[in-house]
Amino acid sequence: MSLLIRNGEIVTSDSRYRADIFVDDETITRIGRDLDAPPHADVVDASGKFVFPGFIDPHVHVYLPFMGTFAKDTHETASIAALVGGTTTYIEMCCPNRNDDALEGYQLWKSKAEGNSACDYTFHMAVSKFVGETEGQLTEIVRDGISSFKIFLAYKNFFGVDDAEMFQTLVLAKKLGVITTAHCENAELVARLQSSLVERGHTGPEWHEPSRPESVEAEGTGRFATFLENTGATGYVVHLSCQPALERALAAKSRGVPIFVETVLPHFLLDKTYAERSGVEGLKYVMSPPLRDSRNHDILWSALQQGFIDTVGTDHCPFDTSQKTMGRDAFTQIPNGIPGIEDRVNLLYTCGVRRGRLTLHRFVEAASTRAAKLFGLFPRKGTIAVGSDADIVIFDPELRSTISVATQHVNNDYNGFEGMAIEGRPSVVTVRGKVQVRDGKFVGERGRGKLLRREPVYF
Ligand code: URP
Ligand code: ZN
Ligand code: ZN
Repeated sequence: MSLLIRNGEIVTSDSRYRADIFVDDETITRIGRDLDAPPHADVVDASGKFVFPGFIDPHVHVYLPFMGTFAKDTHETASIAALVGGTTTYIEMCCPNRNDDALEGYQLWKSKAEGNSACDYTFHMAVSKFVGETEGQLTEIVRDGISSFKIFLAYKNFFGVDDAEMFQTLVLAKKLGVITTAHCENAELVARLQSSLVERGHTGPEWHEPSRPESVEAEGTGRFATFLENTGATGYVVHLSCQPALERALAAKSRGVPIFVETVLPHFLLDKTYAERSGVEGLKYVMSPPLRDSRNHDILWSALQQGFIDTVGTDHCPFDTSQKTMGRDAFTQIPNGIPGIEDRVNLLYTCGVRRGRLTLHRFVEAASTRAAKLFGLFPRKGTIAVGSDADIVIFDPELRSTISVATQHVNNDYNGFEGMAIEGRPSVVTVRGKVQVRDGKFVGERGRGKLLRREPVYF
């Protein structure tokens, strides 16, 4: 199988030039002008188009038992949605809860994905408790190619770890050379504020944000940073949503703490007024950390362009309208999460690059290269270079469309970005040399995706 991509404008995190790309089997083997190809090669004309490295979503949920129900996607639906939207690799949160066995959970999450994903994938391994067998089990999982952990400071008694468990996890992470990703909200404060609001009859989705205000996230972020500082471990704050939390992370970084920051798509584009909408509409916009006051948007965009925010993920987590309605009588029962895997790249390009908030290079870096580097996938993923996997997005900046639930591939009955205009989107997407999307449509092989083995590097 060989593929020649002709006449495109290649854009990586640090270069931009016109050239052809030749792919032999799964790998980029030549880049240059006027390349020739064997007669049987698939030839794709990329004139007038950008040629980007396949995009990487560092934070998604596909299989997720949570708040009494299950997120709606399968790996088949999530990966097809990802590919149509230009994402060729995703990192799923493997999330056994406190009552589950970690190793059994890992095997279960792996079995859900195996043979079902159309794009490549790997996992962040959640540590939801730290007991006698944890060290041995996590060591085995890291040896199996999973070189990142996930901890939740929120979700008390379910996914959440206490400070002692966070400490033990970080000590082990340092010993094993893996990076620890963290959901940073103070679980105790959230629980207290939730009870007090509900007792006072404040039960609608508009009270979700006041139950976990910015200061609660800032505290969690600061505490995580302090634990990193005192264990020597490397950390990554997931879905950071607001200025006070960003200030805590950056203050730690300026002291030399190895801490990185992810913000997810909804926090750049949506604000807390969405959860204040009446009827079922407001329920759709409940996620944690919550959608914030819109004054944060400019701060987050600017931090992203400057590299203070490292990556943009989605925290893709689809619950449908009837699942969201489980929390009609109390916001504490609304399954948290908003889908986004299909729309991340297009919206980041439209609202970031087209609006002058992001350079093309920062766009590629934040949506692909940085995640590849942080999570041990570079240079196999995250760039266009000889020897890299041929995960390529041919992106047509002239294509126009409007986001709609009617055309999405995500398995859900709403889209949180409904009606937003897209200025540019992928036309052809390849995964390890195989065209999986052509003319914006999935034409590929279901189950082509592979579990990516990653080595520990943070010693
Ligand atoms: O609201 C969210 N983010 N749902 C998914 C679970 C998590 O916290 O990542
Ligand atoms: Zn989270
Ligand atoms: Zn998440």
